[in-house]
Amino acid sequence: MIPRKVILDVDPGIDDALALTIALFEPRIEVVAVTAVGGSVSPEQATRNVQTVIENLDPPRWPRVGSATVPERPLPADNCHLYGADGLGNSDFATSELHHLHTAAKVIGDEIRAAPEEVTLVALGPLTNVAGALRRDPSLTAQVGQLVIMGGALAEGGNVTPAAEFNLYCDPFSARDVFRQPATMTLIPLDVTRQVAMTFGDLDRLPPESTKAGRFLRRILPFAFRTHRQEYGLEGIYLHDTVALVAAMHPELFVTERMAVDVETHGELTTGAIVCDRRRVPQWRHNMYVATKVDAAGVMDVVLRGVTAAASSN
Ligand code: BDR
Ligand code: CA
Repeated sequence: MIPRKVILDVDPGIDDALALTIALFEPRIEVVAVTAVGGSVSPEQATRNVQTVIENLDPPRWPRVGSATVPERPLPADNCHLYGADGLGNSDFATSELHHLHTAAKVIGDEIRAAPEEVTLVALGPLTNVAGALRRDPSLTAQVGQLVIMGGALAEGGNVTPAAEFNLYCDPFSARDVFRQPATMTLIPLDVTRQVAMTFGDLDRLPPESTKAGRFLRRILPFAFRTHRQEYGLEGIYLHDTVALVAAMHPELFVTERMAVDVETHGELTTGAIVCDRRRVPQWRHNMYVATKVDAAGVMDVVLRGVTAAASSN
């Protein structure tokens, strides 16, 4: 089996870090690049965290890294309350200073042009980089294999405002630009990601401290368990980004529907909310697949096997 090429665009964030842990050791995919975007943490911190994750896990093949750029509009929110001031549970990792990194938008463009129609771009943060890459080179839309996006809330309420999901709320203008491209897109909204939770029991089943992946995950995940309990009264954590990664690797675990979707950019109460044309006779074109159902147990099985595989490789 030839592994599918994947670019992961991330704003780590503990749940992005878990998704990266699984992706970097998954034989079905080849992670050709990891690009950083501001969102859960600042652009600078996101770039540092991508490097921290890769250094700590030391995967067999190190992907290219693209740095986050400061967006035109300041980020309206962060997720430090959930993931810590550094996004990785205030774990105080030492990370080497990286110089001369190319920007995320450049790296995304390079990698897609190098393998036209073969790259799956998995976007797990605000869509700033994806829109930036498409703006730099509009021919990329036709060259990207597919785009899998964690974002939005359909029937579910939002998570950052009553109406909006965090990733789309942080940069609704970029989201709108991306949604209007004629690329093959799948949206993984909160409606399905909220159906998958890691429990305290799963935490106990993580690989041992003696492995790099086990040590790394055991250092960052307990922080998110504590904040999810304090903030939401949950006895577990959501794995939004990991669910989207699994959708890219195992689409058979999801039911999707073709929909016509746009993003509100200026609402007084609804900035970042998605709007779907579900009129009897829709006037908008269907522009993406939206996941509406998930085999939650199947996804958790992939997640736990993924972390075990990550740990057994070193
Ligand atoms: C999204 O926002 C962040 O909390 C997560 O990293 C995820 O990408 C969920 O709304
Ligand atoms: Ca994220």
